[in-house]
Formats: sequence, C-alpha cells, structure tokens
Amino acid sequence: MPDTASRPNDAARFDVAAVRDQFPILKEPSHGKPLAFLDSAASAQKPQAVIDAVNETYAHRYANVHRGVYELSERTSAAYEAVRGKTKSLINAADDDEIVFTSGTTDGINLVAQSWGRANLGPGDEVLITEMEHHSNIVPWQMLRDEKGIVLKVAPFDEDGVLIMEEFERLLSERTRLVAVAQVSNALGTILPLDKIIPMAHAAGALVLVDGAQGIPHLPTDVRAMGADFYAFSGHKLYGPTGTGALYGRGELLAELPPWKGGGDMILSVTFEKTEYAAPPHKFEAGTPNIAGTIGLGAAIDWFAALDHEGLAAHEADLLAYGTERLLEVPGVRLIGTAPDKAAVISFVLDYAHPHDVGTILDQQGVAVRTGHHCAQPVMDHFDVAATVRASFGAYSSRDDIDALIAALDEVRELFG
Ligand code: ALA
Repeated sequence: MPDTASRPNDAARFDVAAVRDQFPILKEPSHGKPLAFLDSAASAQKPQAVIDAVNETYAHRYANVHRGVYELSERTSAAYEAVRGKTKSLINAADDDEIVFTSGTTDGINLVAQSWGRANLGPGDEVLITEMEHHSNIVPWQMLRDEKGIVLKVAPFDEDGVLIMEEFERLLSERTRLVAVAQVSNALGTILPLDKIIPMAHAAGALVLVDGAQGIPHLPTDVRAMGADFYAFSGHKLYGPTGTGALYGRGELLAELPPWKGGGDMILSVTFEKTEYAAPPHKFEAGTPNIAGTIGLGAAIDWFAALDHEGLAAHEADLLAYGTERLLEVPGVRLIGTAPDKAAVISFVLDYAHPHDVGTILDQQGVAVRTGHHCAQPVMDHFDVAATVRASFGAYSSRDDIDALIAALDEVRELFG
C-alpha cells in the first residue's frame, strides 16, 4: 500500500493487501473506478473462503439437516452442527447448546422479546435501553409494551454520543427486568461501556441483552467475561452470508424459556393433545434452517478467527484516526458522533449538501457509503439532522479508500458548495 510508511507500526503490521486479495468483489470496478467500499457496517463483503463454503455445500454436501438417515444428510447435519462449536469458541460461551442459530441480530432480539419477554414481563415491568439503539432494539420492546403494558425507559447520550452514565444509573430501578443495549452504536460508532453497564444492571436485579451486531466484527467478544445474559449478532456483518446469525443465552435461562416459533425440528413428540419440545437450542429453531448459510458462517468465523487481531485492531484504529483527520479538513463538515471510544464508523453531514446527494455523487466516483437515518431515527433526532453520510470500515479497508472518499467529496463541493 502506498501509505504503509506513514501508518503506525502496529497498524502497518496488518497486511491489508493480503486481506483485500481474498475478496473478489473488491477487484471489480464501480462506475469504471476502483471500488472504495465504505459500508461494512451495513454488511461486510465476503472472502473467497466463505463463498467457497456456500458453493461447495450446494454442489457437494447438501441435504436437509437432522432429518435424513442417509449419509449425505448426516454429513450436512454434522457440518451444520459444527458451526455451533465454532460460534461458542468465537464468543467464549460455555456450551454449544447456548448457541441458537438465527437469521441475524434482529431475529435474536425478537426471540428474547417474544420468548423471555412475553413469559416474564407484565404491566409496570421495565426494559431499559439507550437513546442510541438501532430500531431492532427499540421496536420489539415497543411491541411488548403495547401488548403487555411494560414500561420502556431510554437512557440518553451527550453531544459527543457518549452514554450519560448518571442518567443510566438513575433510570435503573427495582422494576428494571432487562437492560437491552448495543455493544457499538451503528450510527455513531460509540463503544458502550459494557464493563460498567452490565454489573450495574445485575446489581439492580436485571438481565442484560447485548446487541452485538456492530461490536463483534471490531472488538474481542467474550460473553462470559462480559457477563451478558443474552448476546445477539449477525453473520453478514462478520464477513459471513446474509440470513445467518446467533443468539447466545446462558444455559439456565434458555432451559426455562418457552419456544417462540412452533414447527418441525423443535419438538420431541407431537400429538393433537400435547407437544413436548426439544431441549435448547433446537427448541428455538423451528423449520428448515439456513443450512448452507450457516455452514458459510462457520467458514467466516474460521476466516475471522485466523486474522491477526491485535494488528486488525490497530489497523482499524488507524483508519478511524486517519479518516477523522482527513474529514475534518473538508470545509463545512460536521461529525456526528465524537465519542472518545469509537469503533470504525464515521458519520458526518455537510452544511451545503443533503446526505443522499452526497451519497449519489460519491457513488459516481466509486465510493460506496451509507446515507440515511441508519435505522436509528432517535439518534438523528438528537442531533437535529434527517440523515447522515456514514463511512464504515472492515478488515479490508485501507487509507486509499479514505483518500478516494476525500477526493470524491471535492466533487460534491464543486457541485453544491
Ligand atoms: N444495521 C445496518 C447498518 O447499520 C444495516 O447499516
């Protein structure tokens, strides 16, 4: 990379070129320009290892799982079930059975709301979230509020996008049954202080659900060290296939939860009078699952686990620092989200162009960013903006991508500034 010499040593140790080389899509131009893909927070691109795992499953190892006595089905079932162990290791759960496969973080949060929430919450019980949650960690609790009469409380953040811990503490009460909180804000990049939040929630007698969608690709994640009772994440943000993910639940909790969806593969026996459910995690996995996708998730976990994680963290910190510095040189820019602890996400607005126009002009230059409210409209309301432009980074992102963004913003200024 041309910029390697100016990168700090620990970041320069991370071989971005070798990582990029494994992503076929990054070699394809966009509008005739090299693709600068800066939308990994929406969905990460996929390395060849993941593409191969999905293709090979369909080409050579595909049958339904848990149902056939024939060799092919048994092999597919073994490959699918092996991903539970990989996921357990990734997040340091205690047991494979604590891993419920889902279609993604949204599915995992809804599982907790519809299973644990409906069974355990009643009028006046409180769920405490933060003002920076994604809609997927707001709407399921509002649905429960409307159905069960629970109270939804919201802990605010300050002008930098930092959670105000005094307010969080004040809002915790003896009626708080659940704290549901992001590991990293998708719109602001703020890293939430889970090391403070989780012990405080537990001391108040509440369980904690962590939305790990934006956290797991960037932060070391150990659900037991963290103390999470539930932890949800998506495969597609972790370089894996769409429609995959997992919900971790502590074993004793999952054992007591009722199922959410009914159907095949989640039962021990069914008569018209009575159904006996399977043990967790199968109790929560009704119907034919995303077989090839989940096997692809296993390949993504293997690929991700093999990265140099210290180097990756330094590389992403360098991209965040370099991107922030370069953006602050752009006339009329306002950063949205300036917390001291941030993951590799930079949201901004320009005072002379709407984010959607910015996104369209950047696209013409081969620069892919997300524009809009990022499924976090309360965050937009807080900053009194309708939308932002968001550049987000992954393991394959480079300073060249940021330079392309800054050069493309010159075009925006020429047209609108
Ligand atoms: N939640 C994803 C994002 O932040 C889609 O873009």
